[in-house]
Amino acid sequence: MTGSACIAADTIARNAARHRLADDEPVWLFGYGSLIYKVDFPYLQRCPASVTGYQRRFWQGSEDHRGTPGRPGRVVTLVEEPGTRCGGMAYQVAARVFRALDVREKNGYLRLWTRLWLAGQKEVDGLIYIAGPDNPAFLGPAPDAELARQIGVACGPSGSNSDYLLHLARALRDLDEYDPHVFALEKALLRARKSGIAAPEANPLEAEISDLEFF
Ligand code: SIN
Repeated sequence: MTGSACIAADTIARNAARHRLADDEPVWLFGYGSLIYKVDFPYLQRCPASVTGYQRRFWQGSEDHRGTPGRPGRVVTLVEEPGTRCGGMAYQVAARVFRALDVREKNGYLRLWTRLWLAGQKEVDGLIYIAGPDNPAFLGPAPDAELARQIGVACGPSGSNSDYLLHLARALRDLDEYDPHVFALEKALLRARKSGIAAPEANPLEAEISDLEFF
């Protein structure tokens, strides 16, 4: 990929220019990764929700939250896959909230409009953050064992990469969402820890998860 074809790693300015929204305008946002369980922004209402035609994948590198430029972690993005569904949480927020969210999601994520299905309710238009294959932090697919090993050793300003994966898996379970990719990586991470490949760490989720009945 040439430099000009590549989008800038820091997407704050691009996202701010993408959508004309009045500060008070209520807008739906679909969260499918850390936005499900790390809710550090104000919202008007929230509701379990899903999008179709996308799958959640640990294919995006994280150099700012769960890793460093020298040792990037892996975080989720959505990849297009016709006929599939991805569950998460939708939040209705005042549009001004996107100023802070754009900073949080700056490492390669662009906002896109899509249709959201709010559980038991209705279909609405909402925004999602997607890190596409044309962003410099994109890492793409790898075997589960390799993804788990990378997640097991990475750590950044927002905490360990294992913590991101374990929290996401727990949040999906709480939502009754079955995601084979996420749960397979959770298992692979715990296996890697047991065999000493991934660094064990004091994590309160650990004890809870070691006794889990997986879906
Ligand atoms: C999301 O949660 O919707 C985006 C990816 C992330 O921040 O983990």
